[in-house]
Amino acid sequence: MCGIVGYIGDKEASDVIIKGLKRLEYRGYDSAGIAIINGELHIKKGKGKVKNLESMIRGVASSHIGIGHTRWATHGEPNDINSHPHVSQSGKLALVHNGIIENYTSLKKKLESQGYTFYSETDTEIIAKLIESFLEKNPDDLRKSVQLALLQVTGTYGLAIIHSDFPDEIIVARKGSPLLLGVGENEMLIASDASAVAEYTDKVVYLDDGEIAVIRKSDYTVQSADEVELTKEVHELALSLEEIEKGGYDHFMMKEIFEQPRAISDCLRGRLNVEEGEITLGGIDKVMDQLINANRVVIAACGTSWHSGLVGEYLFESLAKMPVEVEYASEFRYKEQLIGEGDVMIVISQSGETADTLAALREARERGALVLGVVNVVGSTIARETDGGVYIHAGPEIGVASTKAFTAQVTVLALIAIKVAQMRGKLDKERSKALIKELSHIPQKIQEILDQSDKIKNIADLFTYAPNFLYLGRSYSFPVALEGALKLKEISYAHAEGYPAAEMKHGPIALIDDMMPVVVIAATQHTNDKMVSNIEEVRARKGRIIAITTPGNEEVAELAEFTLTVPETMDELSPLLTVIPLQLLSYYIAVNRGCNVDQPRNLAKSVTVE
Ligand code: AGP
Ligand code: GLU
Repeated sequence: MCGIVGYIGDKEASDVIIKGLKRLEYRGYDSAGIAIINGELHIKKGKGKVKNLESMIRGVASSHIGIGHTRWATHGEPNDINSHPHVSQSGKLALVHNGIIENYTSLKKKLESQGYTFYSETDTEIIAKLIESFLEKNPDDLRKSVQLALLQVTGTYGLAIIHSDFPDEIIVARKGSPLLLGVGENEMLIASDASAVAEYTDKVVYLDDGEIAVIRKSDYTVQSADEVELTKEVHELALSLEEIEKGGYDHFMMKEIFEQPRAISDCLRGRLNVEEGEITLGGIDKVMDQLINANRVVIAACGTSWHSGLVGEYLFESLAKMPVEVEYASEFRYKEQLIGEGDVMIVISQSGETADTLAALREARERGALVLGVVNVVGSTIARETDGGVYIHAGPEIGVASTKAFTAQVTVLALIAIKVAQMRGKLDKERSKALIKELSHIPQKIQEILDQSDKIKNIADLFTYAPNFLYLGRSYSFPVALEGALKLKEISYAHAEGYPAAEMKHGPIALIDDMMPVVVIAATQHTNDKMVSNIEEVRARKGRIIAITTPGNEEVAELAEFTLTVPETMDELSPLLTVIPLQLLSYYIAVNRGCNVDQPRNLAKSVTVE
């Protein structure tokens, strides 16, 4: 959720930390803060963006150790006081936290009765005070005090702690919130996301739940919750700076929309054999038998990833003839748990850190199901906790509104569905070859849509201030309607609803008048006639139709007020194309409205609280 960065080494700590925070700002950005040590602790923090912090910390003190934070508030409004770092009673210990401390009220009462006072409304502040209460009994051992304090805490945390009496170490701890160490030459970094350390080192150590680490300039030790010293694997980070910078675009979202031809090519690379009509998916090879013979397949995800899961359902059912249920990960755990041995859960997550999805995954595994991941971030918690999976290889997605991850997820789901269908003998050779060949053409077809972005901008200009939008689609286009509406809501704050086109007449039709833009996705062959009828229904009520269709579809073009075309493709793969104009439409509307496209209000890139 939030971003955590820490540095210890020879460089100016605040420079490294501010730079890192800027890279992490997409994860949470309602306030920011930094703590450094130079003899004593210096803290600067406040509501707003990292750039405000930059001027606050300039010239305060030179330091070679520090921690920083960008917040996404869970407890207490975003204001200066609630911003992290939080300090202990003595003013010597500073701490940044990602997550939620669930028993903070009772701990607070206990600490208050011991004479501790609190200044913020956050759940985080209690940890600073709790650690200090243990430090009084173990004055030489900060790590031990942290470990004892955390035994009393329930909830989730990624924590980084510094103390002016221990100016050569940073203590970090993780439970349910990502944290990694960046191992440099005579310097160490810590971060909640690899993008903050990529500039300094390509060696990272991922912490696991329950672990506590002591970081010094030239070494580190990691211990389990029961104080067993661990030897952690050092991973090589494959993340270039170019990938995490805007590269000439005004916004990350635009860069990521335009990256889709490349992202899909990367996703397909090495996986397709077009001549033979074969697919290779190394990450699930060994579990393929279990997958094709599964009693039940459940897809669990949130937000945009849930929408790609819906496309996955259509793909699995129509190609592999396997029934699939798609669950909101957040709801899954609160339902009667019928999942178990012989079942397969596929979790989909761009970040690989979404708390709800992680909880569903753990629940399913505990009950004996095989869990597979469709994940973007290599080495993320979900990727590491699944039994197998297929990375989408879309590259870092920084814009809060997910774009290239959606198309890459759908690509991977199509690959899995085709492979399963082949192995189950449900797809004839010719059709499967045709699908595989068509998949290889998708990047070029996406490029053709991107080349018409001016046309999409013109439509966006006309509808910039419409307060409500309806998105309609059938079959493969229904999840696309949901995704188009979500994109618009997220970044432009316009109200938008996605509906199965035929469901419109059961309610939402009441909303249609001559002020209502209705985006109709009519680019699949097998639903065309029915879509035409739905468009007529909207027209009869004077709704303003923006149609997404294929070049030869005169019927739809004649009925619509505006038409955007996407190249012909097979129905099963159509979401990979139809979603592109909708991403662009929402982008241009948001820019016209003056919204912060990459960092929409109230949102965060990866939601690591339940
Ligand atoms: C997408 O635009 C959203 N920001 C959001 O719905 C997102 O897809 C959701 O939070 C799931 O994230 P994940 O894919 O990283 O698990
Ligand atoms: N729960 C903490 C707070 O509200 C941490 C939030 C975060 O992860 O940014 O301050």
